[in-house]
Amino acid sequence: MSIVITAGLAADAMALAELAALTFRETFAADTRPDDMELHVAETYGVSQQEQELLDPDITTLLADVDGELAGYAQLRSGTTPSCVTDDAPLELWRFYVAQPWQGRGAAQALMQRVEEEASRRGARTLWLGVWENNERAKAFYRKNGFSDAGSHVYMVGTDAQTDRIFVRSLREIRNS
Ligand SMILES: CC(C)(COP(=O)(O)OP(=O)(O)OC[C@H]1O[C@@H](n2cnc3c(N)ncnc32)[C@H](O)[C@@H]1OP(=O)(O)O)[C@@H](O)C(=O)NCCC(=O)NCCS
Repeated sequence: MSIVITAGLAADAMALAELAALTFRETFAADTRPDDMELHVAETYGVSQQEQELLDPDITTLLADVDGELAGYAQLRSGTTPSCVTDDAPLELWRFYVAQPWQGRGAAQALMQRVEEEASRRGARTLWLGVWENNERAKAFYRKNGFSDAGSHVYMVGTDAQTDRIFVRSLREIRNS
């Protein structure tokens, strides 16, 4: 399996919008009311919105190609930090998704390694993220990558207010390795 990770460009907006909507639906459709799902996807994953995000200097988008197909993506975003994240130089791992055919096959691990490198390059010493409280697979993946639970916040999916756990990890060991 060949995994190539690149920084996303504006020209990737359509492919990213499709992958982002697909992976969000795959992950959450079973637990989300259809109208909330449609509202969220329409508000969040349009092509022009992805293009703006790809061009935004506060956002880093990483794309994972597996055997020539777009299989996953991650986005780092600088901005506000929840009060439960108290460590220094925090950066948000805003989105981290691998499509189902490539889950459990190492693509997520390769993408996480690149995320850590990119976050360190941006000067971060702490990574934090929000993960839906019942997303057991993602929580297990983050825990095995050194994250731990620091608190919670509310995340809106359409009109549904969901609880996300806030997971945090230090990047010091990356910098020192
Ligand atoms: C979260 C994600 C990136 C992890 O990538 P992955 O390739 O599935 O990760 P891995 O298989 O390496 O690790 C997942 C771990 O969860 C475990 N797991 C699988 N299903 C599980 C479940 N239902 N409950 C608890 N743990 C589970 C696996 O056994 C594995 O742990 P192990 O390596 O110790 O055995 C990927 O599953 C994904 O993209 N999911 C959909 C999108 C998503 O949820 N993104 C996170 C948003 S915050």
